[in-house]
Amino acid sequence: MKDHIVVLSGAGVSAESGLSTFRDSGGLWENYSVFDVATPEAFRRDPALVLRFYNDRRCQLAEVEPNAAHRALAELEKDFRVTIVTQNVDDLHERAGSSKVVHLHGELTQARSSRLDDLIYPIGYKPIELGDTCELGSQLRPHVVWFGEQVPMLEAAAGVVASADHLLVVGTSLQVYPAAGLVDFADPDVPITVIDPGEPARVNRATVIRKKASEGVSEWVARLRGQGR
Ligand code: OAD
Repeated sequence: MKDHIVVLSGAGVSAESGLSTFRDSGGLWENYSVFDVATPEAFRRDPALVLRFYNDRRCQLAEVEPNAAHRALAELEKDFRVTIVTQNVDDLHERAGSSKVVHLHGELTQARSSRLDDLIYPIGYKPIELGDTCELGSQLRPHVVWFGEQVPMLEAAAGVVASADHLLVVGTSLQVYPAAGLVDFADPDVPITVIDPGEPARVNRATVIRKKASEGVSEWVARLRGQGR
């Protein structure tokens, strides 16, 4: 049985594709308040503003491409079982060719009913406008997890991390729970590597590669293949 590689990724893995991270200088949360655009209350108060924020993200996503880090992680599937658990709402892991991606915080390319969570519609890179409704007649909203909402994929993700033979944490500050707590589900014997060129998240017993995702992932993959020989 091939080793199971589990990758916990965040906004930093898509930074070199041209998508902003959240908490770096110049990041999204420097220009927007979470409370204006990423909570259920914000959507009730000013749905047009919230829709515009995510429409802009989706529009930008249509313009960018996966980078070397996404591609190297997809490539790994040739030799390992690989599951990506991402906090990203972009689709760059999939577009690079990764076949198993768990989206903890939802997906920009889907809309969902604001009445029934199970009513989810693929929308690609098209905007959601005020007045766009689900089949029940309720306003459509982005299929993303906002602050204060449940993370429905959490349990599945915890199971994935618990079954890892190697855990890679890349491009996430691990500031947001419950996603940040997932590293604790790794078996105590499992090697953990953190790749981050900035201030890497503190993870017990992790090896840190302080490089950008493109370079750091290639280096880590080379080490991994070296161990397998
Ligand atoms: P953050 O913006 O909190 O963290 C991004 C991390 O990526 C930082 O540690 C950076 O140092 C690192 N980074 C920057 N450039 C990089 C590069 N080229 N290669 C590798 N790493 C790089 O983003 P997340 O941890 O993903 O949630 O944020 C988690 C959640 O907070 C998001 O999913 C979003 C946000 O609020 C919701 O909106 C619910």
